Amino acid sequence: MRPTKAVINLAHLKANYLAIRKITKTKVLAVVKADAYGHGVAEVVNALNSLKEKPEYFGVALSEEGIALRDINVKQPILIFEPPNQHNIDEIIKYELIPTVFCEAHLRLIDKYLVRRPAMKLKVHVKIDTGMGRLGIPFKEAVPFIEKIAANDNFILDGVYSHFATSDEIDKAFAELQLRRFTQILTELKKKNIKIGITHIANSGAILTMPEAYFDMVRPGISLYGYPPSQAITSSLKLKPVLSLLSEVASCRWFEKGDSVSYGRKYILKRRSQIISIPIGYADGLNRNLSNKMFCIIKDKLYQQVGRVTMDRIMFDIGEAKISIGEDVLLLGKSRHQSIDAWDWSAQLNTIPYEITCNISKRVPRVYLA
Ligand SMILES: Cc1ncc(COP(=O)(O)O)c(C=O)c1O
Repeated sequence: MRPTKAVINLAHLKANYLAIRKITKTKVLAVVKADAYGHGVAEVVNALNSLKEKPEYFGVALSEEGIALRDINVKQPILIFEPPNQHNIDEIIKYELIPTVFCEAHLRLIDKYLVRRPAMKLKVHVKIDTGMGRLGIPFKEAVPFIEKIAANDNFILDGVYSHFATSDEIDKAFAELQLRRFTQILTELKKKNIKIGITHIANSGAILTMPEAYFDMVRPGISLYGYPPSQAITSSLKLKPVLSLLSEVASCRWFEKGDSVSYGRKYILKRRSQIISIPIGYADGLNRNLSNKMFCIIKDKLYQQVGRVTMDRIMFDIGEAKISIGEDVLLLGKSRHQSIDAWDWSAQLNTIPYEITCNISKRVPRVYLA
């Protein structure tokens, strides 16, 4: 195995999950789309399912991701956040996945396919767009749409949900507006005695800051993996990053004053110094825009990355430090006194930890710590 690896600490994952359960006291849908945000879906799901209080649901974006969960014997209900289409509806039915529906075309599609399986009913969750502006039935049209589903024998209305656009921001005005719209719809449906199954809206931002938004179930994603969705919000929940990125020193040699490092000569040495190289690059998901802007930790000390990030290698200026080939290098993670996390990279790249962990490519082996 190559020395570059992502170490996935499953004890941290379980601790984050149990902490979320403890504060919310609701059912939990663990969001494991995109290969569990890059952490490795099979190991993440198996770790959560080894707990006494297993997630009640799993959530993924694609039907393929749902089928992958069935293939590893996941028995829980699996909610697909995307709506069904003509290419995947057969498989959704076959694998008993729960599609998200929010327009007449979705209902017609399901009806059409269920004709072939008259004994079968399909569980669905309705998504309401209360302001996210992406997927969902517009909130003003939600009640009659949901009534229609409840009256159709082909469907089991297993849940009704929505998604926040700004729950990770300090200003909660818009999130509260979304919450009011959602609550109002639920109240109207209740008045009409319509059975709507479970209700859910809280992503990590709301889990951390909006207890009034917990309803029957919460849907943590990034918080499971140890990061708050933004650095603006504060919460008593102590999350532990699950993923560390490690490698080893592959080469070390002295460069003279005036020598340059890597493509484009973007680092020119101002003094005689040692340059080490590490076998990781942009093909592993280490964004090229981190060139000259990131650090590593070796023997509990921080060193500056220098020169352009290349496809397979990056370089660091270690001055006169005594560092041998094969020495451990921490690119994301914590040592005794130093720490580099996905927020540090995000700050340089104008992104969020979600994108950092999702982008660590398949070329980087994942190693699991129990
Ligand atoms: C529908 C839905 N619910 C929950 C989540 C989890 O969000 P977060 O990772 O911010 O907790 C996502 C992620 O994008 C989502 O699309």
